[in-house]
Amino acid sequence: MTSIAVVVGDGIGQEVIPVAQDVLSLLHPEYEFYPVEIGYGKWKKTGVACTPDDIVLLRDADAIIFGAVTTPPAADYRSVVLEIRKELDLYANLRPIKGDGVDIMIVRENTEGLYSGIEWQEDDRASTLRVITRKGSERIARAACRIARERGNHLTIGNKANVIKSDAFFRDICIKTAEEEGVPYTTAFIDALTLDVLMHPERYDVIVTTNIFGDILSDAAAYLVGGLGMLPSANIGDSHALFEPVHGSAPDIAGKGIANPVAAIRSAAMLLSHLGDIPGATLIEEAIRLTAEAGITTPDTGGKATTKEAGAAVIDALLRIT
Ligand code: NAI
Ligand code: MG
Repeated sequence: MTSIAVVVGDGIGQEVIPVAQDVLSLLHPEYEFYPVEIGYGKWKKTGVACTPDDIVLLRDADAIIFGAVTTPPAADYRSVVLEIRKELDLYANLRPIKGDGVDIMIVRENTEGLYSGIEWQEDDRASTLRVITRKGSERIARAACRIARERGNHLTIGNKANVIKSDAFFRDICIKTAEEEGVPYTTAFIDALTLDVLMHPERYDVIVTTNIFGDILSDAAAYLVGGLGMLPSANIGDSHALFEPVHGSAPDIAGKGIANPVAAIRSAAMLLSHLGDIPGATLIEEAIRLTAEAGITTPDTGGKATTKEAGAAVIDALLRIT
């Protein structure tokens, strides 16, 4: 029995994840879904956003579908997403940017760098330690090379080695790995690279980079394909996998029923490919395409549909093509 842990989380996570779950259970009625309550809402009720038992439930699943969690600007509150990525060692964050004339895979290191969580404050000075390890860099470089090879294409190593020594370390390990793996590569400074990706997306295929740069680059690249409501992601480790939209809990539109469910549905498609159902994932992408073609989209992408209407349209399209 395939078991899927479902974390709706906070804000629009609670609106888009049920749609993604409906899509999954339509294609796989045999999947067993179980909810895991995690997030700021839980913290407000119980004082804890994610318990050790929750982590056990996540570990037990064959895959996790995750909405988003709110991180309030409080000094004593640590991001739960970061904690889960570290606990389950989900070191590769894969963020496909796909749309008209654009087909890029951003491979973001997901467990270290500036999101190391090693930080402290003294009076007028706050510090965060940026940690880049050989192990962390090698394994993300290998994952990126594997993807570049599967796609029969090349790798761009995004970095800021000109000013940050730990980035020169990361870049050099990526270069060595790409050479060992026989994958053609180029290197680029992340600031200029971000602009070039927006201006000439056709030049890029797989981009590997460190944690924060990958985070920022992928939100910027969302511009190419209709915004954050369109971007799915996979967080993959050697033993666990979590699938989530790139966007957050979007408090500005939460509760209005107008969040775009496409990013969450596409995350479900990535979950299916991960579990081996590549045809299922392709069908979902096709259903999303047909729905957009029929003009049934939410306001962020220029339409008038609600989350439920857009979700129902994707499910109708799936029923037609399966
Ligand atoms: P956000 O991604 O939630 O929202 C940014 C903008 O994009 C907002 O204007 C929002 O309305 C819009 N947007 C995002 N997803 C959309 C969708 N599906 N449909 C239509 N519009 C959409 O980022 P923001 O505002 O920086 O963060 C809000 C909260 O989410 C914060 O507490 C943040 O910490 C958290 N967050 C959580 C993440 C996670 O759980 N993985 C990731 C990013 C942010
Ligand atoms: Mg982000």
